[in-house]
Parts: sequence; structure tokens; C-alpha cells
Amino acid sequence: MAWFEPGVGRVDIASGRLEGATSRYVKTFRDLAGLYADEAAFNAVVAEKGDAVAYEVTDFKPSANPGDMIIGVTRMEPGKVGNEYYMTRGHIHARPNRPEMYYGEAGHGIMLLESPDGEIRTIEILPKTMCYVPPFWIHRSVNVGPEPLVMTFAYPADSGQDYDIIAKAGGMRVRIVDDGKGGWTAVENASYRLRPKELVEEIMAKAD
Ligand code: NI
Repeated sequence: MAWFEPGVGRVDIASGRLEGATSRYVKTFRDLAGLYADEAAFNAVVAEKGDAVAYEVTDFKPSANPGDMIIGVTRMEPGKVGNEYYMTRGHIHARPNRPEMYYGEAGHGIMLLESPDGEIRTIEILPKTMCYVPPFWIHRSVNVGPEPLVMTFAYPADSGQDYDIIAKAGGMRVRIVDDGKGGWTAVENASYRLRPKELVEEIMAKAD
């Protein structure tokens, strides 16, 4: 029997990476077209730093087998597009009943969660905060602080990601913006369209 080998990595706060990771992916600012409400502000950010890394993920993926687990680290730059804080694209798991765990390492973030039928939760993440993302919730992280947001995470290896679910609804139901006092607030996203009941039921039925 060839047993899987244990994995080990060190979370490097300065680089925001998992040392010893077996894979890495990055999203540049240019990759994030369509996410932000203020298109002119987005174009200005792209003109200034379009090819710079907005956020990245380094992870350890032993396999994609059911029952296995992926662990890793994510790092996001601080900043805003207009009054809207930098965020990840966000997703629901392709097997939507798979959960996830996030743990704050550095910085100040928000885990923005949306149920398929449009309920919203915002979980503030500071160092040593552990956030449980329940099955079926769409999730996106937002950096609302002045420093890079670094989090570790773990999720079932066969979860997969569906990014289109957000785009198809015109974004998530709320946007996380500057409250004008250096903090954050959630405001309604005018482009958002509630998912039809049939689609919500279709998502909920994917519970293998
Ligand atoms: Ni996820």
C-alpha cells in the first residue's frame, strides 16, 4: 500500500504564502473586470497596475479524492476601486454542499456570504479569527484594512469552484464599501438579480 505522505508548510506572513505549497495561482487586477460598480475607477486601477497581483493562493493539494482535503494560504492586496474594497471573484463550490474553513493570519477582512436565495452574512476576520463557511453558501473575501489580508483555509478536495454563479446574478447582493469614516459598510448592489426559485432548488438538489 502506497500511503499518502503527510504535508507540511509554513505560513509566511510577509509574502502571504504557504512555503512548501505544491501549487499557486494569481489574479491580476486586469483579471477582475466586471467585479466592481465603478467602471471608470476600475479602468484607472488597471491603467496603473493592471498586471500586478491583486490576490494569490498557494496551496497543498494532495488529491481531488472525496474525503481528502486541500489546505493553503491566500493573500490579497489592500485598496479600493472607487469606494469599493478589493475583493476576490468569489464562488460557490461546484459540489455546493462542501464547506470551507478560513483562518485570519494578518490584516482585516470580511468573508461575504450569500445563500443561493439571497440571504447575506458578513463575517469580520482578524488574526486568529476562524470562519466556518457552511455548505451551499457563495463566498468571497474582501480586504477592508490598510494591510495585506492573509488567511489560511481548508476545504474538501472534491469541492471544485463555480465562479459563474455570481456573474449570472449581476454580482453578489451587497457590496462592501468605505463608510466614509475609515471603516466598511455593506450597501445594496443595484445590478443584483435574485435567482429564480427553480435554480435555487437545482443547486440545493446537488447534495451527493
Ligand atoms: Ni471556496
